[in-house]
Amino acid sequence: MKIVLTAHADEAADLVAREILDALGDKPDLVLGLATGSTPIGVYQRLCDAVARGEASFARVRTFNLDEYLDLPAEHPRSYRTFMREHLFEGIDIPPGNVAFPPSEGGDLEARCGAYEERIREAGGIDIQLLGIGRNGHIGFNEPTSSLRSRTRIKTLTARTLEDNARFYADGESQPVLAATMGIGTILDARRILLQAIGAKKADAVRAMVEGPVSSFFPASMLQVHPLVTAFLDPEAASLLTMRDYYDETRRQELRLREERRL
Ligand code: F6R
Repeated sequence: MKIVLTAHADEAADLVAREILDALGDKPDLVLGLATGSTPIGVYQRLCDAVARGEASFARVRTFNLDEYLDLPAEHPRSYRTFMREHLFEGIDIPPGNVAFPPSEGGDLEARCGAYEERIREAGGIDIQLLGIGRNGHIGFNEPTSSLRSRTRIKTLTARTLEDNARFYADGESQPVLAATMGIGTILDARRILLQAIGAKKADAVRAMVEGPVSSFFPASMLQVHPLVTAFLDPEAASLLTMRDYYDETRRQELRLREERRL
């Protein structure tokens, strides 16, 4: 896993947005896997700004979101479809038919989760998957003990995840306990994975993901087996890593080789 220690959350967002915009420059029909939550908001803002300045177009891009709460209608203020509309889709020129979410309403969910996987395959697979990380190590809504080769399916959320996301719900408002989510196997099929972690409350999770053992009890640790994962961390999220000097040195050496055009 490549670890990028940034000076602050804004630098992490700048770098991730730059990676996406560069990839879009090389491949206008990029296939993106997208995350919700607080973490990617800065990246989405930068993508919207690039489109507003006429520097990028998402007209041929296809997107697949990681997850969606079960039984929240698309228009519900807390649905991830609303989140994505407000934070990204309304600010870029992506055709509405090019965005997809795992099935979260109606019946036949198992078959439709399989169809979601098929749709990703038909699009040619995900080129870049954006990720955040939950304090319990979840990626997407793959909670601890998720199968390490799981595919898109319905998951029950842990008490800790519900507690972490309670901030989005008013007192007394009911919070969904089920969600449809890409599996860990689905995420690992992406060609590249860009993960961001921001803030001290993610420090334990980041340490377990980067320096801990691979375990279904900490799903993000499975990213260690993927060949092209970059984790962009702010100083607080990186504070418990034991090899910070090495990660910095690694980045310096890589930048040097790039400057010399040897990479
Ligand atoms: C969101 C998702 C989750 C979040 C994670 C971190 O689509 O799949 O895994 O990335 O819960 O959430 P934030 O960014 O709000 O700290």
